Amino acid sequence: MSLDTTRINQSMTHFDGQDAIWLFGYGSLIWKAGFPYLERRPAYIHGWVRRFWQGSHDHRGTPEAPGRVATLVRQAGAICHGMAYRITPETLGPLDVREKNGYLRLVTELHFEKSERIEGLVYIATEDNAAFLGDASYHHIAQQIAGAKGPSGPNRDYLLNLAAALRELDVEDPHVFELERLLPPLKPTKE
Ligand code: BEZ
Repeated sequence: MSLDTTRINQSMTHFDGQDAIWLFGYGSLIWKAGFPYLERRPAYIHGWVRRFWQGSHDHRGTPEAPGRVATLVRQAGAICHGMAYRITPETLGPLDVREKNGYLRLVTELHFEKSERIEGLVYIATEDNAAFLGDASYHHIAQQIAGAKGPSGPNRDYLLNLAAALRELDVEDPHVFELERLLPPLKPTKE
């Protein structure tokens, strides 16, 4: 699969004719949308776990030193908690461009509290995209995150912000919290 997923995403017609779409966020979207939205609600989806298995050479790293950001990996029986945004269809265009580094739109069922559910959208970077890095030891992933930064900022801030946002939502995510624990402390800067 080519690296730029914009064109594939923009060929999706599933939500054509709808004036609003629910988008599920499980990574940076939890603490920072960066786009206008109509409504924002904690939500979860079934059958997926969050993993720092996607390489980032355009946001939280560079082609020489890619960072690692979250994607979702299928796991039967799992639940992934995050944040859902109700957006207008026009918001998807810029999002496709922002997330062009391997993320594909997927239609899925979003769950809210009180058994409410609705069809929505999630962006997932699957293992066949060119920037996918896959599994590695926690130590390796934490070291890679500690050493990477890109146009959107240090990779460590992405991890720390995500861990803080999950705690705020009362969500237990052992993968994220273990990476946070293993993140080497920042070296003090010389005066
Ligand atoms: C997120 O949930 O933060 C996310 C949104 C778009 C692409 C990848 C991740």
